[in-house]
Amino acid sequence: MDRFVKGFIIMSIVYLGIAAILGIVMLANHDMLALKFVHSHLNMLGWVSMMIYGVGYHILPRFMGRPLYSNKIGEAQFYLANISLVAMLLFYTLNMYSPGGAYRLLTIVFGVVQTVAIFLFFYNMLMTLLTKVEQP
Ligand code: HEM
Ligand code: HEM
Repeated sequence: MDRFVKGFIIMSIVYLGIAAILGIVMLANHDMLALKFVHSHLNMLGWVSMMIYGVGYHILPRFMGRPLYSNKIGEAQFYLANISLVAMLLFYTLNMYSPGGAYRLLTIVFGVVQTVAIFLFFYNMLMTLLTKVEQP
């Protein structure tokens, strides 16, 4: 298994753990419901999407009987997706408790980086699935 593939799977489980703890905190303290976006996106972009990236990168090329189009793009996506998820949620939280600064803008910037990471997966997978492979 490639390093970035294993990385996606490990990080997805880490995000699930953090999201579950935050979920319990939100249940216990209704003021913390202000961080529902953090909980839902730790789950949806962290746990769910990253598990799908990891399993998808490992399984889909094998289903097609061909190599992944680009490991470099996969690695770049791993770093961009993780850095931008943590940064987006961190700046969202800072903006929630201390609004008015640059935090909102930074949340948006890292949201855009997260979208770039999503499109790297989109491109890498479609190139893997659709590119014609020369038969030897
Ligand atoms: C220990 C596990 C979990 C706990 C304690 C928990 C708790 C919560 C709480 C308290 C809310 C806020 C509900 C409200 O607005 O009143 C919430 C929302 C949400 N949770 Fe969880 N959660 C857990 C696991 C998960 C998992 C595994 C996922 C996804 C795979 C998930 C996805 C979501 C989503 C998408 C929302 C937003 C729903 C909405 O806006 O209506 N949660 N969760
Ligand atoms: C670049 C990636 C993404 C960005 C910037 C983003 C942004 C947002 C924003 C701004 C909201 C509204 C939050 C609010 O009402 O306070 C939202 C809600 C939601 N998003 Fe996303 N989203 C992204 C990706 C995803 C993905 C991939 C999923 C599912 C797989 C998802 C699932 C949800 C759900 C279930 C809600 C409603 C729960 C909530 O209000 O927190 N999002 N998202």
